Amino acid sequence: MNPNYVKIFDTTLRDGEQSPGFSMNTEEKVRLALQLERLGVDVMEAGFPAASPDDFTAVERIAKAVKTVEVCGLARAMDADIRTTWDAIKEAKMPRIHTFIATSPVHMQYKLKKTPEQVKQMAVEAVTLAKSFCDRVDFSPEDGGRSDRDFLVDILEAVIKAGADTINIPDTVGYLTPEEFEALMRYLIKHTKGADKVIWSTHCHDDLGLGVANSLAGVRAGARQIECTINGIGERAGNASLEEVVMALQTRKDFYTLEHGIDSTEIFRTSKLLEQITGQKVQPNKAIVGKNAFAHESGIHQHGMLAHPETYEIMTPESVGVDKTNIVLGKHSGRAALAARLIDMGYQLESDQLNEIFTDFKVLADKKKEIADSDLAILVHGEFAEANQTWSLEKYELGSGDSKQAFAALTLKNHKTNEILAAKADGSGMVDAAYNCIKQLCGEHGTLTEFKMDAVTSGIDAQAVVNVRLAQTDGRVVTGRAGDTDIVKAAILAYLESVNKSL
Ligand code: KIV
Ligand code: ZN
Repeated sequence: MNPNYVKIFDTTLRDGEQSPGFSMNTEEKVRLALQLERLGVDVMEAGFPAASPDDFTAVERIAKAVKTVEVCGLARAMDADIRTTWDAIKEAKMPRIHTFIATSPVHMQYKLKKTPEQVKQMAVEAVTLAKSFCDRVDFSPEDGGRSDRDFLVDILEAVIKAGADTINIPDTVGYLTPEEFEALMRYLIKHTKGADKVIWSTHCHDDLGLGVANSLAGVRAGARQIECTINGIGERAGNASLEEVVMALQTRKDFYTLEHGIDSTEIFRTSKLLEQITGQKVQPNKAIVGKNAFAHESGIHQHGMLAHPETYEIMTPESVGVDKTNIVLGKHSGRAALAARLIDMGYQLESDQLNEIFTDFKVLADKKKEIADSDLAILVHGEFAEANQTWSLEKYELGSGDSKQAFAALTLKNHKTNEILAAKADGSGMVDAAYNCIKQLCGEHGTLTEFKMDAVTSGIDAQAVVNVRLAQTDGRVVTGRAGDTDIVKAAILAYLESVNKSL
């Protein structure tokens, strides 16, 4: 192993996905996993198989689909979790089990209700069992940042002896400063017997906005793996952002003198795919992938950029794959050009799916002169959504004005019964009226807790994308997402998608 190589362990599909608003279905997870493979991550944590049957299936599908990246499943330090995790990942080309148990006094006393000795024993048993299935075993002392250092040394020596090949130190609550995290990592590497036989890893949360700084501090102390997520998503304030740690290592190679295996030109595309799948946009000033990350607005900056790009740009937009001319297709583009573009965007489609998308593409191209990748992503999303629908929109008519009540008339098809049903309703606006029609026809399917609208490209002919969230009575939250050049139609389709998912 090259001592200067930093492994990138992506946990977007696990720590990222478990945070509110970022849940993905299995198809979406597989799509993102394939893009993470193109991005060149070394390990992807595909999920927490013991958490639910859906999580299990998603991890299993990813394990079969991904060929060149280690696929990891997370397991609590418990017999059943480890067996379930192994079942989910066993068909991966390079399977990995990541097991963890909390080691801080507050977690051991109040959450686990276990003594340090019991925790150590559970950790050793978990790693021993994991190792009996799988060569690659990661161990994390959860809340490591607030754990007693000498207890950490004790438990880590024991799990290394039991077969862990990677020791990941989580700052679970994002509490440490970079100086403290660096010192902790140095202490553990220096005092733990067997430290030279394992890879040390960081897992830093961003509660104080220090996730990236702490990860890089860990690397300075000798860590050679960073656990991180696309767009920095994750529990609470998120995890260290993959694009930020990678571009820091790359742009400041003079300082870190370290290498990584990420194809940085795939960063922007991966970030966008995550946005498209979850409907959660990064803030415009987000480092590396935000809309303004490479924008130069003020006169002084523009003048400097024209004189020489290095005046205000420490890395080029091209190095992270920001394609300034994102407009790729138009009315005259053929099926082959569309297929090539979709493959380039990371979509693997069956030929009948491509035919359907091509039909929708032509309809859209008649309304819009230029079709951007983000437009195509919405068409593909619509096609995938149609595959599992119970209800679909047949016809709609809307009306509103300052002297009349907004109304909607909708005709829907029920694909289970083959019935075509119609309803009319008033509302506070056209969207509300349309949603009242859907409730009449499909019944109540939870409470609408979020309604968000965005334009995917600029201009009056842009597609509006609507994201909705419906909270179910059993605690589940289902999301719906759709785009159209007609804002209200996008809203109707998004709501119908969430109803279909709730069924
Ligand atoms: O934050 C954390 O401690 C975790 C562990 C499971 C590694 O996510
Ligand atoms: Zn975490």
